[in-house]
Amino acid sequence: MAILVTGGAGFIGSHTCVELLNAKEEIVVVDNYDNSLPEALDRVRQITGRDFRQYQCDIRDREGLCRIFQDNDIDTVIHFAGLKAVGESCEVPLKYYDNNMIGTIILLEVMKDFGVKRMVFSSSATVYGDNIVPYVETLSTGNVTNPYGRTKYFIECILKDIYGADHNWSIALLRYFNPIGAHESGLIGENPNGIPSNLMPYVAQVAVGKLKELVVFGDDYSTADGTGVRDYIHVTDLAIGHVKAVDYVRNHRCLEAINLGSGRGYSVLEVIHAFEKVCGKKIHYRVGPRRPGDLPIIYADAKKAERLLGFKTTRDLDKMCKDTWNWQSKNPNGYEQEKK
Ligand code: NAD
Ligand code: UFG
Repeated sequence: MAILVTGGAGFIGSHTCVELLNAKEEIVVVDNYDNSLPEALDRVRQITGRDFRQYQCDIRDREGLCRIFQDNDIDTVIHFAGLKAVGESCEVPLKYYDNNMIGTIILLEVMKDFGVKRMVFSSSATVYGDNIVPYVETLSTGNVTNPYGRTKYFIECILKDIYGADHNWSIALLRYFNPIGAHESGLIGENPNGIPSNLMPYVAQVAVGKLKELVVFGDDYSTADGTGVRDYIHVTDLAIGHVKAVDYVRNHRCLEAINLGSGRGYSVLEVIHAFEKVCGKKIHYRVGPRRPGDLPIIYADAKKAERLLGFKTTRDLDKMCKDTWNWQSKNPNGYEQEKK
């Protein structure tokens, strides 16, 4: 039995492949490399000493997907494949609806045709919108402010309907908080295209000298130091959460939304200072205006993941910064230097 990992060459996908292989699972990866490089998968092999099949295929390519299901004994799908840039999704919403929604619908149809009814889906804390903290799974969802977030919300709705119509499905909707960090080997990590829009990769590129200074988006929020607070989760912890979620959907018939976060928040300034400590350099920053759409404080209620999956994060902010710095300093240009 194999697990199909869609988007397995990406940031979270590649780390999850490592943890699945470490847990002795068989995996098959499908990715169109729209936002990644096959090099990441070679490094997954290097880290784990294990081999697996990988296919370059867009999940909207029904025939291509069918061949993958024909050639492999797949029992569960972890579905990472999707576009994720919030700003870009506001500029070209149709691209996001086409890729994320149509891609997921075709994947689900092919799964149904092949009798594969277990899925672990990459959702996001963004589905909670502007809500009361801590975000608990029973809160209302759907009050989302951008097309990217809406694709996550709509896909959650589709998956709920599928389960409602056929209780033989088993689905975990994993709502990630802010994944950062890198594998501790420094061989795989986040490899953003162009100038990063997220805090941690931006800080790391300032530290390595690729970017001049960070702009802190507002210091007048009602938080302890005035800067935005988020629940950061080490990508290896997140990956382990997926291994546990696969076990759960294999052993239950269910549809469960589950937060993957640490349950505590750190401010932008706390992240900057933690990073300065591990890299031994000053992170140059200036305070700018708030970024439109940003909320002051987001953190998870992480109890359901502990109750259902036995999952708890173990890597703290210091470790997240250390591993990001290790990856960034060893690979200042990400995987690009490997391009022939
Ligand atoms: P990523 O861009 O690094 O990985 C996504 C992978 O999917 C890439 O390798 C990309 O090439 C591939 N892909 C995209 N569209 C595809 C398609 N049509 N067919 C085949 N492959 C396709 O992103 P990530 O950070 O690893 O995120 C993985 C998933 O988790 C995404 O669905 C994302 O929306 C979700 N998520 C990410 C975050 C985050 O902060 N990183 C937070 C919440 C949710
Ligand atoms: N920030 C800065 N400067 C930067 C970048 C970010 O000050 O250059 C601040 C933001 O204002 C925020 C915090 O750092 O307070 C974290 O911002 P990120 O962009 O790293 O993360 P977000 O919480 O804004 O976004 C994340 C995911 C999205 C998801 C969203 C909602 O990246 O995919 O959470 O859950 F939609």
